[in-house]
Amino acid sequence: MRKWIVAGNWKMHNTVAESIALAEAIKNGAAKFQGGKIVLAPPFTALFHVSEVIKGTNLLLGAQNVHNEEKGAFTGEISPVMLKDIGCTYVIIGHSERRKYFHEQDNNVNLKVKKALTTGLIPIMCVGETDEERLKGITNDVVGRQVKQGLKEVEKIDSVVIAYEPVWAIGTGKVATAAQAQEVHAFIRGILKNILGSNAADDVCILYGGSVTKNNIGDLISMADIDGALVGGASLKADEFIGIIKEIAGKK
Ligand code: PGA
Repeated sequence: MRKWIVAGNWKMHNTVAESIALAEAIKNGAAKFQGGKIVLAPPFTALFHVSEVIKGTNLLLGAQNVHNEEKGAFTGEISPVMLKDIGCTYVIIGHSERRKYFHEQDNNVNLKVKKALTTGLIPIMCVGETDEERLKGITNDVVGRQVKQGLKEVEKIDSVVIAYEPVWAIGTGKVATAAQAQEVHAFIRGILKNILGSNAADDVCILYGGSVTKNNIGDLISMADIDGALVGGASLKADEFIGIIKEIAGKK
């Protein structure tokens, strides 16, 4: 049966010194929560230092992006082999900010997911509709396409973590209601059931992301198909992030 996951996406925040301090504070507060997985995804420049801080603890390391080749002439890029080498277990792929500002599309996401898996990393594949798409009533079309294309010809789909992050909820303070999120999570699990069968689909972790705080996570995490959270802004403050972990660990 699936276990909860709480992942902190630090985005483009924190110097090395700030990252070490934040990781230390989270490490101290999170030590008692053993039932699930806690992931820190600092910027690339702090991955090594954070990996040193969390060595031997219940915290795991994640990266925020990855290239889909092992090596080569791709100036400025980071390969999955390098992430593995530095101690990453997870990698966030297809975040809406990558899709919006860096023009990543479903086929890029798909290539990255495949390469991450064959390198031994666990992809956290992000999907989600914009405000405009929700208003047009095409949320399921958009999310369904992103899930199916992102997982096209992927072999170990049950190893992938999916994060449903409505774009209109990211960094806006406008969190989805528990019912809104559950509806999309159940829709995603339905797609997984069609591809994988019922048992394997039940093992896939589907996280909610978008303006999660320790005050609003309680309702969301009580829903059947919400298995954890991908947290941006609130993961930059140790007490907020630990508060979120506490709520999730207490309810799942
Ligand atoms: P937020 O970001 O929690 O700041 O809304 C979530 C995310 O982008 O993963």
